[in-house]
Amino acid sequence: MTTLQTAQPLPIVSMQQAGKQFGNGPGAIVALANITTEIHDGEFIALCGPSGSGKSTLLNLMAGIDYPTSGQVYLLGNDLSLLNDQQTARLRADAIGFVFQFFNLLPVLSVFDNVYYPLMLNGFSRRVAQQRVMEMLERVGLAAHYQRIPSELSGGQQQRVAIARALVKRPRLVVADEPTGNLDSRTGQEIIDLLLTMNQQLKTTFVISTHSLALRDQAKRVLEIRDGKLEYDSVSV
Ligand SMILES: Nc1ncnc2c1ncn2[C@@H]1O[C@H](COP(=O)(O)OP(=O)(O)O)[C@@H](O)[C@H]1O
Ligand SMILES: [Mg+2]
Repeated sequence: MTTLQTAQPLPIVSMQQAGKQFGNGPGAIVALANITTEIHDGEFIALCGPSGSGKSTLLNLMAGIDYPTSGQVYLLGNDLSLLNDQQTARLRADAIGFVFQFFNLLPVLSVFDNVYYPLMLNGFSRRVAQQRVMEMLERVGLAAHYQRIPSELSGGQQQRVAIARALVKRPRLVVADEPTGNLDSRTGQEIIDLLLTMNQQLKTTFVISTHSLALRDQAKRVLEIRDGKLEYDSVSV
Protein backbone atom coordinates (compact mmCIF):
# COMPACT_ATOMS: atom_id res chain seq x y z
CA MET A 1 0.00 0.00 0.00
CA THR A 2 1.31 3.45 -0.82
CA THR A 3 1.31 6.19 1.74
CA LEU A 4 -0.40 9.37 0.68
CA GLN A 5 1.72 12.35 1.59
CA THR A 6 -0.09 15.46 2.68
CA ALA A 7 1.11 18.33 0.51
CA GLN A 8 2.79 20.97 2.64
CA PRO A 9 1.30 24.38 1.88
CA LEU A 10 3.85 26.77 0.40
CA PRO A 11 4.88 29.27 3.07
CA ILE A 12 4.33 32.94 2.30
CA VAL A 13 7.85 33.65 3.53
CA SER A 14 10.67 31.18 4.04
CA MET A 15 14.01 32.36 5.39
CA GLN A 16 16.98 30.01 5.34
CA GLN A 17 19.97 31.13 7.40
CA ALA A 18 19.27 34.68 6.32
CA GLY A 19 21.62 37.37 7.54
CA LYS A 20 22.00 41.08 7.03
CA GLN A 21 25.18 43.06 7.44
CA PHE A 22 25.38 46.82 6.93
CA GLY A 23 28.72 48.03 5.62
CA ASN A 24 31.99 46.16 5.33
CA GLY A 25 35.24 45.79 7.24
CA PRO A 26 35.78 46.72 10.88
CA GLY A 27 32.84 49.14 10.99
CA ALA A 28 30.33 46.58 9.68
CA ILE A 29 27.14 46.05 11.64
CA VAL A 30 25.63 42.58 11.72
CA ALA A 31 21.93 43.41 12.04
CA LEU A 32 20.68 39.84 11.56
CA ALA A 33 22.42 36.46 11.67
CA ASN A 34 21.27 32.99 10.62
CA ILE A 35 17.53 33.55 10.68
CA THR A 36 15.63 30.41 9.67
CA THR A 37 11.87 30.59 9.89
CA GLU A 38 8.65 30.27 7.90
CA ILE A 39 5.47 32.32 7.82
CA HIS A 40 2.25 30.56 6.82
CA ASP A 41 -1.18 31.71 5.73
CA GLY A 42 -3.41 32.97 8.50
CA GLU A 43 -0.72 33.53 11.11
CA PHE A 44 -0.78 36.48 13.52
CA ILE A 45 2.78 36.96 14.73
CA ALA A 46 4.22 39.39 17.27
CA LEU A 47 7.90 40.14 16.60
CA CYS A 48 9.44 41.21 19.90
CA GLY A 49 12.86 42.40 20.98
CA PRO A 50 14.60 45.50 22.33
CA SER A 51 15.37 48.56 20.19
CA GLY A 52 18.20 47.85 17.81
CA SER A 53 17.67 44.06 17.95
CA GLY A 54 16.85 43.86 14.23
CA LYS A 55 13.04 43.89 14.08
CA SER A 56 12.70 46.47 11.29
CA THR A 57 15.52 44.83 9.33
CA LEU A 58 13.79 41.45 9.62
CA LEU A 59 10.44 42.88 8.48
CA ASN A 60 12.20 44.52 5.51
CA LEU A 61 13.72 41.18 4.50
CA MET A 62 10.41 39.35 4.89
CA ALA A 63 8.68 41.90 2.71
CA GLY A 64 11.34 42.01 -0.01
CA ILE A 65 12.12 45.67 0.74
CA ASP A 66 15.72 44.78 1.46
CA TYR A 67 18.01 41.89 0.53
CA PRO A 68 19.88 39.52 2.82
CA THR A 69 23.67 39.61 2.61
CA SER A 70 23.81 35.89 3.44
CA GLY A 71 21.36 33.00 3.21
CA GLN A 72 18.06 32.95 1.32
CA VAL A 73 14.68 34.62 1.52
CA TYR A 74 11.81 33.08 -0.45
CA LEU A 75 8.65 35.09 -0.98
CA LEU A 76 5.75 32.93 -2.19
CA GLY A 77 8.32 30.37 -3.30
CA ASN A 78 10.44 32.88 -5.23
CA ASP A 79 14.10 33.14 -4.28
CA LEU A 80 14.46 36.92 -4.04
CA SER A 81 18.14 36.76 -5.02
CA LEU A 82 17.05 35.48 -8.45
CA LEU A 83 14.58 38.30 -9.14
CA ASN A 84 15.47 41.74 -10.47
CA ASP A 85 14.25 44.89 -8.72
CA GLN A 86 11.24 45.22 -11.00
CA GLN A 87 10.13 41.61 -10.40
CA THR A 88 10.53 42.03 -6.64
CA ALA A 89 8.55 45.28 -6.75
CA ARG A 90 5.76 43.52 -8.66
CA LEU A 91 5.65 40.65 -6.16
CA ARG A 92 5.59 43.13 -3.28
CA ALA A 93 2.83 45.22 -4.84
CA ASP A 94 0.67 42.11 -5.30
CA ALA A 95 1.36 40.28 -2.08
CA ILE A 96 2.44 42.61 0.73
CA GLY A 97 0.86 45.43 2.68
CA PHE A 98 2.70 47.74 5.08
CA VAL A 99 1.76 49.57 8.26
CA PHE A 100 4.22 51.95 9.94
CA GLN A 101 4.65 53.53 13.36
CA PHE A 102 4.08 57.06 12.04
CA PHE A 103 1.23 56.11 9.67
CA ASN A 104 2.97 57.52 6.54
CA LEU A 105 -0.26 58.78 5.00
CA LEU A 106 -0.05 61.28 2.16
CA PRO A 107 -1.03 64.55 3.90
CA VAL A 108 -2.62 66.30 0.92
CA LEU A 109 -4.82 63.36 -0.08
CA SER A 110 -8.24 62.60 1.39
CA VAL A 111 -8.83 59.48 3.45
CA PHE A 112 -10.50 57.95 0.39
CA ASP A 113 -7.56 58.72 -1.90
CA ASN A 114 -4.98 57.47 0.60
CA VAL A 115 -6.74 54.08 0.61
CA TYR A 116 -7.34 54.18 -3.15
CA TYR A 117 -3.65 54.93 -3.84
CA PRO A 118 -2.34 51.30 -3.89
CA LEU A 119 -5.21 50.27 -6.16
CA MET A 120 -4.41 53.16 -8.49
CA LEU A 121 -0.80 51.94 -8.65
CA ASN A 122 -2.14 48.49 -9.53
CA GLY A 123 -4.12 49.98 -12.45
CA PHE A 124 -7.64 50.31 -10.98
CA SER A 125 -9.74 53.29 -12.03
CA ARG A 126 -11.20 55.37 -9.21
CA ARG A 127 -14.73 54.33 -10.22
CA VAL A 128 -13.96 50.59 -10.23
CA ALA A 129 -12.02 50.85 -6.96
CA GLN A 130 -14.68 52.91 -5.18
CA GLN A 131 -16.64 49.99 -3.74
CA ARG A 132 -13.51 48.26 -2.45
CA VAL A 133 -12.17 51.43 -0.85
CA MET A 134 -15.46 52.22 0.87
CA GLU A 135 -15.89 48.61 2.04
CA MET A 136 -12.45 48.73 3.62
CA LEU A 137 -13.14 52.13 5.25
CA GLU A 138 -16.36 50.59 6.59
CA ARG A 139 -14.36 47.72 8.14
CA VAL A 140 -11.99 50.10 9.95
CA GLY A 141 -14.87 52.33 11.06
CA LEU A 142 -13.98 55.42 9.02
CA ALA A 143 -16.45 55.41 6.11
CA ALA A 144 -18.09 58.59 7.43
CA HIS A 145 -14.75 60.43 7.26
CA TYR A 146 -13.73 59.51 3.71
CA GLN A 147 -13.47 63.13 2.57
CA ARG A 148 -11.24 64.33 5.39
CA ILE A 149 -7.50 64.76 5.16
CA PRO A 150 -5.19 62.99 7.64
CA SER A 151 -4.51 66.08 9.80
CA GLU A 152 -8.24 66.26 10.58
CA LEU A 153 -8.07 62.83 12.23
CA SER A 154 -6.70 61.54 15.56
CA GLY A 155 -3.61 59.33 15.62
CA GLY A 156 -5.69 56.20 16.10
CA GLN A 157 -7.94 57.16 13.18
CA GLN A 158 -4.90 57.83 10.99
CA GLN A 159 -3.55 54.38 11.81
CA ARG A 160 -6.95 52.89 10.84
CA VAL A 161 -6.65 54.61 7.46
CA ALA A 162 -3.14 53.17 7.09
CA ILE A 163 -4.50 49.71 7.92
CA ALA A 164 -7.27 50.11 5.32
CA ARG A 165 -4.63 51.19 2.80
CA ALA A 166 -2.50 48.10 3.60
CA LEU A 167 -5.48 45.73 3.29
CA VAL A 168 -7.39 47.16 0.34
CA LYS A 169 -5.53 45.12 -2.26
CA ARG A 170 -6.10 41.96 -0.18
CA PRO A 171 -2.43 41.12 0.35
CA ARG A 172 -1.29 37.69 1.52
CA LEU A 173 0.91 39.28 4.19
CA VAL A 174 0.84 42.53 6.11
CA VAL A 175 3.99 43.60 7.92
CA ALA A 176 3.46 46.24 10.59
CA ASP A 177 6.44 47.98 12.18
CA GLU A 178 5.50 49.08 15.72
CA PRO A 179 1.97 50.11 14.67
CA THR A 180 0.96 51.03 18.22
CA GLY A 181 4.30 52.69 19.11
CA ASN A 182 2.98 56.20 18.59
CA LEU A 183 -0.39 55.70 20.29
CA ASP A 184 -1.59 55.79 23.89
CA SER A 185 -2.30 52.36 25.37
CA ARG A 186 -6.09 52.51 24.99
CA THR A 187 -5.90 53.58 21.35
CA GLY A 188 -3.14 51.02 20.84
CA GLN A 189 -5.43 48.29 22.15
CA GLU A 190 -8.16 49.38 19.71
CA ILE A 191 -5.64 49.02 16.87
CA ILE A 192 -4.59 45.57 18.14
CA ASP A 193 -8.28 44.55 18.25
CA LEU A 194 -8.75 45.79 14.69
CA LEU A 195 -5.72 43.84 13.43
CA LEU A 196 -6.97 40.68 15.19
CA THR A 197 -10.43 41.18 13.66
CA MET A 198 -8.94 41.61 10.17
CA ASN A 199 -6.88 38.44 10.71
CA GLN A 200 -10.09 36.56 11.60
CA GLN A 201 -12.41 38.07 9.00
CA LEU A 202 -10.13 38.44 5.98
CA LYS A 203 -7.65 35.66 6.91
CA THR A 204 -4.85 38.15 6.28
CA THR A 205 -1.49 37.08 7.69
CA PHE A 206 0.21 39.61 9.99
CA VAL A 207 3.75 40.00 11.28
CA ILE A 208 3.85 42.88 13.75
CA SER A 209 6.95 44.23 15.47
CA THR A 210 6.11 45.58 18.89
CA HIS A 211 7.12 46.51 22.42
CA SER A 212 3.53 46.02 23.54
CA LEU A 213 3.04 43.25 26.10
CA ALA A 214 -0.68 43.31 25.29
CA LEU A 215 0.02 42.51 21.65
CA ARG A 216 2.52 39.84 22.64
CA ASP A 217 -0.11 38.22 24.87
CA GLN A 218 -2.78 38.26 22.17
CA ALA A 219 -0.65 37.06 19.25
CA LYS A 220 -1.04 33.48 18.05
CA ARG A 221 2.73 33.21 17.67
CA VAL A 222 5.61 35.14 19.22
CA LEU A 223 9.05 35.56 17.67
CA GLU A 224 11.74 37.16 19.78
CA ILE A 225 15.00 38.52 18.47
CA ARG A 226 17.98 39.79 20.39
CA ASP A 227 21.19 41.12 18.85
CA GLY A 228 20.03 39.97 15.43
CA LYS A 229 19.41 36.37 16.44
CA LEU A 230 16.09 34.56 16.65
CA GLU A 231 16.07 33.60 20.32
CA TYR A 232 12.56 32.27 20.72
CA ASP A 233 9.68 31.05 18.58
CA SER A 234 6.51 30.04 20.42
CA VAL A 235 5.63 27.72 17.51
CA SER A 236 8.87 26.10 16.46
CA VAL A 237 8.61 25.23 12.78
N1 LIG B 1 20.54 51.30 6.98
C1 LIG B 1 21.31 50.96 8.02
N2 LIG B 1 22.65 51.20 8.01
C2 LIG B 1 23.43 50.83 9.04
N3 LIG B 1 22.98 50.20 10.14
C3 LIG B 1 21.67 49.93 10.21
C4 LIG B 1 20.77 50.30 9.16
N4 LIG B 1 19.51 49.88 9.51
C5 LIG B 1 19.64 49.31 10.73
N5 LIG B 1 20.91 49.33 11.14
C6 LIG B 1 21.45 48.76 12.41
O1 LIG B 1 21.01 47.41 12.48
C7 LIG B 1 20.63 47.07 13.82
C8 LIG B 1 19.17 46.63 13.83
O2 LIG B 1 18.34 47.75 13.55
P1 LIG B 1 16.77 47.68 13.41
O3 LIG B 1 16.41 46.54 12.51
O4 LIG B 1 16.29 49.02 13.03
O5 LIG B 1 16.32 47.31 14.91
P2 LIG B 1 14.90 47.51 15.63
O6 LIG B 1 13.87 47.71 14.58
O7 LIG B 1 14.71 46.24 16.43
O8 LIG B 1 15.05 48.68 16.53
C9 LIG B 1 20.91 48.30 14.66
O9 LIG B 1 22.20 48.16 15.20
C10 LIG B 1 20.86 49.44 13.65
O10 LIG B 1 21.65 50.51 14.08
MG1 LIG C 1 12.53 49.26 14.26
